[in-house]
Amino acid sequence: MDPRTSVIGKRLEKVKRIIAVSGGKGGVGKSVISSLLALALSESGKKVGLLDLDLSSPSDHIILGVKNLYPEEEYGIIPPEFQGIRFMSITLFAKDEPTPLRGDDVSNAIRELLCITRWEDLDFLIIDMPPGIGDELFEAIELLKRCEFILVTIPSRVAFETVKKLALILREIKSPIIGVIENMKRGENDFILKECERLNLDYLGSVRFDEKLEDAIGDSEKIKESKVFEDILRISRFLMEGQRDLSCCT
Ligand SMILES: Nc1ncnc2c1ncn2[C@@H]1O[C@H](COP(=O)(O)OP(=O)(O)O)[C@@H](O)[C@H]1O
Ligand SMILES: [Mg+2]
Repeated sequence: MDPRTSVIGKRLEKVKRIIAVSGGKGGVGKSVISSLLALALSESGKKVGLLDLDLSSPSDHIILGVKNLYPEEEYGIIPPEFQGIRFMSITLFAKDEPTPLRGDDVSNAIRELLCITRWEDLDFLIIDMPPGIGDELFEAIELLKRCEFILVTIPSRVAFETVKKLALILREIKSPIIGVIENMKRGENDFILKECERLNLDYLGSVRFDEKLEDAIGDSEKIKESKVFEDILRISRFLMEGQRDLSCCT
């Protein structure tokens, strides 16, 4: 057995809830939702960590505008803080250089990140999960053990089909699913809500498509003024209080 596995357990010991943000498909907004959810929970006074486990295309630092953060070494790595969020990403080490990882390298890098990071006590650790439904994702699930999933989709049957597959797999391996966020919502259609009901998945709420989001990327103050943040703040209350946001559907 890899001794790092038990170290990872210890590193996460004082983390109350581990929230994994996933969705199968790329480009549906997993990184935006992860980053803004961390920001929203932190704004609400929670102790929050954000871990970017998308090793091939890390994005959370770009979205939040994390710059000049240097991890401190002390019996592991203390994640540097940004806007009150303890942040960890491969970019803190690789900067903006590409990190082409193959085969076992991916699994090793995920293990290493989980193993070195001293999260200490957190209310929430938000994880931007590896993309796809493959080795990287399952490796992370196995190591994290007690993560709860938020599945991100867009209002597209094509995207939801992958979410559906992921949900079925997660159920089979008994990983809890908190629910589904419908991102980039435009118009009135409610087929994602209906599909969620049919599959007995909680619909956590929708996040509006915001054509101005791009201007706010990299500037966390501007992000906090965006429609996207407003919607995610509402959804974050569900995580804190168990209140579902169905305002879009009434
Ligand atoms: N609600 C939204 N409104 C407008 N643009 C969005 C929204 N959510 C995400 N985006 C944009 O869509 C692109 C993909 O989002 P990203 O979070 O990187 O997706 P993923 O991590 O799933 O690949 C980014 O350019 C992001 O800024
Ligand atoms: Mg991403």
